[in-house]
Amino acid sequence: MRLDKFICRCTELSRSDAKKYLKRGAIKVADEVIKDPGFQVYPESVVTFNGNLLSFSAARYIMLHKPTDCICSNVDELYPSVLHLVEVDRAFDLHIAGRLDADTTGLVLITDDGQWSHKITSPKKECQKRYRVQLSKPIPENATQRFKEGVQLQNEPKLTRPALLEVLGEKEALLTISEGKYHQVKRMFAAIGNRVIGLHREQIGDIELDQELSLGQWRYLTEEEVNTIS
Ligand code: URA
Repeated sequence: MRLDKFICRCTELSRSDAKKYLKRGAIKVADEVIKDPGFQVYPESVVTFNGNLLSFSAARYIMLHKPTDCICSNVDELYPSVLHLVEVDRAFDLHIAGRLDADTTGLVLITDDGQWSHKITSPKKECQKRYRVQLSKPIPENATQRFKEGVQLQNEPKLTRPALLEVLGEKEALLTISEGKYHQVKRMFAAIGNRVIGLHREQIGDIELDQELSLGQWRYLTEEEVNTIS
């Protein structure tokens, strides 16, 4: 692995900060100052930062089938955190890459790799998320076109980004969006005079919710799934 990535994995530093410290000569590998961010290191390499040994632990990547009545937060509030469902050591050191509301079910990705989750949540990366939506009223004929053009959400300066609406039935659709504003799907349907009564996330980027997982179950992502987020 590249040395700058190793440093980020072991510290809270961003890739650009890691590079700054490398340039300043703060990093040693096997007692030698290394300034090249691309220098190859391994989990067992002896790397120090300002004289302190960095200990490498492999990042964890998990998918959870979120049930309702739990929240995507590291602290319990009105409902308990989804992290209680993930029976691993130090579960509360993990964080959630893209939240769902308490009443939304479906795919939640959980990790301790901040750079990886940034690729999912940063608006600039435009990572696509697909939702299955149940509505209180029939979907109007022009809804697909309106979502493609973008709709105006309350208290937002700009229209929503183009979104793909696939109508499955009178009151059921798939909606794929590439941003993650607060209550975005519910607000998008409210903007066209409808109301979401059931919401389920099926996919994030190329990662689909494993059909084998029932509500509340989780599994580690495969290496292939992890690498699809780039
Ligand atoms: N949009 C919403 O309105 N709620 C969610 O939980 C996710 C997306």
